[in-house]
Order: sequence, then C-alpha cells, then structure tokens
Amino acid sequence: MDSLYERVGGEAFFTALVERFYAGVVGDPVIRPLYPDDLGEPKAHLALFLSQYWGGPHTYSEERGHPRLRMRHAPFVIGTLERDAWLRHMNKAVKAADLPADDEVELLSYFDMAAQTLMNTG
Ligand code: HEM
Repeated sequence: MDSLYERVGGEAFFTALVERFYAGVVGDPVIRPLYPDDLGEPKAHLALFLSQYWGGPHTYSEERGHPRLRMRHAPFVIGTLERDAWLRHMNKAVKAADLPADDEVELLSYFDMAAQTLMNTG
C-alpha cells in the first residue's frame, strides 16, 4: 500500500493515537495548562491534520485552511520543557500501537522534527 495513512489503518488509527496522546497530556502539569478545558476541538484538529499529512483525506485544510503550524503555536510559549513533554506523550502513544518498525520509525522521526520546529523560545 502506498501511504502510511493506509498502511496503519486510516482515520481510526489517528483518532486512537490522538486519544492516547491526550490521555497523557491530561495529567501533565507542564503542557495541560496550554490547552483549553474542553479537549474536543484540539483532538479533532490534530487527528484531521495527521490524517491529511500522512496521505489521507484533506478534511483538515477544508475545515481549517492552510496548517501554518508555527503561526498557530505562536500564542503558546514552547521551550524544551514543553517540547519534551509533548514528545514524551506522543512517543508513548505511537509505541502503544505496535506498528511495523519502519512505520513506527517514520512517525517518531517526523514528530521529533516537527516538535523541534515548533519551539519558539529558549
Ligand atoms: C512542541 C510541543 C507542542 C505543544 C506544547 C503544542 C501545543 C498546542 C496547543 C496548546 C494547541 C492549541 C489547542 C487548541 O486550543 O485548540 C495546539 C494545536 C495544534 N497542534 Fe500542537 N503543540 C506542540 C507540537 C505539535 C506538533 C509536533 C504537531 C504536529 C505534528 C502539532 C499539531 C497541532 C495541530 C494540528 C493543532 C491544531 C491547529 C488548529 O487550530 O487547526 N503540535 N498545539
């Protein structure tokens, strides 16, 4: 199969990944305060963004426009502490899926790179 989106199981995979990720965020004193009380929207946006990024439908852009992730993260102070906390929860969420090694590495490397580019302080 061609896209990672299809290989890992499509939308259901990303919805479940995002649920696991936010289950970690909820208990995190460093980054929980950055998110709104109601995590419904952040969950939906992240799942749609990731689905689109990895080769799924372009619903994210239809609903939200161009991702402009650096701009959308500008209101939050993201330093090494925030980046490390975010990545810890995401890495755990990815590993829990027990994907074939190649796909797991691809996801982990992407998140590592993306989180690095979204830091905006220190
Ligand atoms: C580096 C640490 C990161 C922190 C602390 C962080 C934090 C946040 C926060 C607070 C929001 C706003 C949620 C809301 O109010 O709706 C957000 C939105 C979002 N983040 Fe992150 N984020 C990080 C990294 C990432 C990475 C690496 C990605 C992608 C791979 C990502 C993708 C998104 C997306 C797609 C949204 C929704 C944008 C929209 O409004 O359409 N974030 N993030």
